[in-house]
Amino acid sequence: MINVLFVCLGNICRSPMAEAIFRHQLQQAGLADEISVDSGGIGGWHVGEPPHKGTRTILDREKISYDGIRVRQVKKSDWEEFDYIIAMDDQNINDLKQIHAGNEHVMVKKLMEFVDQPKERNVPDPYYTGDFEYTYELVSEGCSNLLSYIRSNHNI
Ligand code: 4NP
Repeated sequence: MINVLFVCLGNICRSPMAEAIFRHQLQQAGLADEISVDSGGIGGWHVGEPPHKGTRTILDREKISYDGIRVRQVKKSDWEEFDYIIAMDDQNINDLKQIHAGNEHVMVKKLMEFVDQPKERNVPDPYYTGDFEYTYELVSEGCSNLLSYIRSNHNI
């Protein structure tokens, strides 16, 4: 199993959106038994909550399930359990490295690295911008290209 973890600050807007979209893409590609996906937040303010209303509204519109997705905080052992840790912004990467000094086998990247001709350095946080649509467009493209990248890395 290849294990993918999406990380953002609160785990209610961006990373659960990525988790739901990526899970949907995995199901469509018939790869749900080979690649697992999860998400977590740097902060624990919203632990146990479902995704933010703005994220849910867009996922509902796109008919993408977010069943079972609840906020959890990232933990040190995530560095042992995941093969890919995909962060939404530079601050997430810095914060993740505070939790643990890193693990050679984990590939840590920002989702924006998988967006073609990116206009942003980081995935904008709709918790502050209010623009869930723009974030959805970036996350959707990023997830799709991330999946292609993982498939080619593992020949699947
Ligand atoms: P997210 O957005 O990192 O995309 O989930 C945020 C959600 C909540 C908070 C910050 C960012 N917060 O401070 O509660």
